Amino acid sequence: MDAPLSFTHRFEPALRAGVPPLLLLHGTGGNEDDLLPLGRMVAPDAALLSPRGKVLEGGMLRFFRRVRAGVFDEDDVRRNADDLADFVERACEAYDIAAPIALGYSNGANVAAAVLLLRASVLAGAVLLRATLPLSQPPRPELDGKSVLILSGATDPLMSPDGAARLAAALTEAGANVTHRTLPVGHELSQADVSLARKWLDEQSGGARLRPDPG
Ligand code: MLT
Repeated sequence: MDAPLSFTHRFEPALRAGVPPLLLLHGTGGNEDDLLPLGRMVAPDAALLSPRGKVLEGGMLRFFRRVRAGVFDEDDVRRNADDLADFVERACEAYDIAAPIALGYSNGANVAAAVLLLRASVLAGAVLLRATLPLSQPPRPELDGKSVLILSGATDPLMSPDGAARLAAALTEAGANVTHRTLPVGHELSQADVSLARKWLDEQSGGARLRPDPG
């Protein structure tokens, strides 16, 4: 019998062939159920793979340890990004899906950024909602051909504009095709995040949506 996958997770199969799968990565205090509705809104036909972060902070689930808000335990970032990348690889085999596009929010966006920087081959691209650069000395991976959408909040008290800009620069220097937009919002998600992520994801799958846009 195959070994069980190493993260508690949800998996929803694709409703249509040829749409890139999404890897949903929740924020601090969330779980594997949190982003399923968002995933369905932005990619109605995609397979959804949604793991639960394994790190506990005061009873809240996360994807890596931090010393305090905005100060990360970078060894733990590297270990957990690696562990998550192993899970993604095995889940893609187990569910017979292509490398997914990550859709991460906050801590989930930060771990997705770390996976892109450290184990890029497991992801086809990423939508990073309220992200920062999770490593002070980022490696320079080969990201040619990967597209990344970063959506920041202008009044986000948790993510400095500088951190998102440094993340965009690190990914661009590594060859990724990065779109970075700053929205007039805070840390919370907005309708603009949903619309922009949906449009961007639609472009990634060649704009071949069959269903009409409900909104
Ligand atoms: C993080 O720890 O990744 C960021 O500070 C965002 C958060 O989870 O609050």
